[in-house]
Amino acid sequence: MASLTTTVGGIKLNCCVYNASGPRTGSAAALKKIAESASGAVLAKSATLVKQDGNPLPRGVQEIDLGERSCPGSINSEGLPNAGIDYYLSSECVDGVAESAPGKPYLVSLSGLKLKDNLEMLSRVGSTAGVHGIELNLACPNIPGKPTMAYDFEQMESVLEEVFKQAPKGLPLGVKLAPYFDFPHFQRAAEILNKFPIAWVTCINTVGNALIVDATNEMAVIAPKGGFGGLAGGYIKWTALANVRQLRKLLKPEIDIVGVGGVASGEDAFEMILCGACAVQVGTKHWSEGPKCFDRIANELKSLMDKKGYGTIAEFQGKLKDWSKPPKALKFGAAKASTEVSGTSAKTVQMYQAIISCLLLVIAGLLQAALRAR
Ligand code: DHB
Repeated sequence: MASLTTTVGGIKLNCCVYNASGPRTGSAAALKKIAESASGAVLAKSATLVKQDGNPLPRGVQEIDLGERSCPGSINSEGLPNAGIDYYLSSECVDGVAESAPGKPYLVSLSGLKLKDNLEMLSRVGSTAGVHGIELNLACPNIPGKPTMAYDFEQMESVLEEVFKQAPKGLPLGVKLAPYFDFPHFQRAAEILNKFPIAWVTCINTVGNALIVDATNEMAVIAPKGGFGGLAGGYIKWTALANVRQLRKLLKPEIDIVGVGGVASGEDAFEMILCGACAVQVGTKHWSEGPKCFDRIANELKSLMDKKGYGTIAEFQGKLKDWSKPPKALKFGAAKASTEVSGTSAKTVQMYQAIISCLLLVIAGLLQAALRAR
């Protein structure tokens, strides 16, 4: 059977599928459940220097299904509710994970409200045994009045300069990025990131400041920030794939890429790896399905690799081909394309098919009656 082992910034993972920092990661109990699942690592909730309650409720909605042709996803504007960095470095969390799953990497996520906080948190992580890596979050879009750092390139560069002056030696440090949408932005971000000894890049964080409307009640679906929140899950998978692909092209090979955004199945994970990811994280689906999603997605990925004849991740990682005439009929798109000629909807085509079937039945009946009459 195919192997899902991989390395992220030099950290060995037995499974390339693990949790995103976000839903179901805030407490020692939640982290323990992830540890007990097939998740390849345990990544804690984005921490601030001191505990925070976050934005007013309701601040997140998941499994939003907007009807035909939509893909379920989520929106959140939590405002960094978390128990504070000392909790995620406490024995309750660190040893809790280690006891539940000996050897499984435990990673912390840092999202300081200011540079000074990030530097202080880095020093506390450096003096804690049992943490295997750090994900520095440069992309939280949900703090009122605070811009997303990954979009302010000057600030991002100066913050990374300070961070790497003080980052704990020997502990791999990755950064989580916001999604980019424009080629010059990919270019600029990569130029900056390539200057630093970054172990991995996690992309993408949510697509910031979306607004989901409840038409029945004529209101926003979440309370904070006038309903504006980070969009995640199925809605953003293709943006995530594009970011993984483009950053893989532009970043130096020493920087690994972890893909996140809309991974809900083994096939989604396969697509991320094909675009260049060495591992994938799951956020929205972990929220809606719970930690058993890691076992399911890992099994689906293994089955798909077996079916395709791949034994390891490395055999297809980054090997996405540009379009050429496909040797195999497409499952997605091709079927729709053939039933949606020049804007005709699938329902209209079905109606015509039913009318033609009825007419054929009537003609067959008439022919039979005519033959009997002869
Ligand atoms: C929050 C949202 C994010 O996208 C993130 O990366 C960190 C925190 C939040 O709203 O709490």
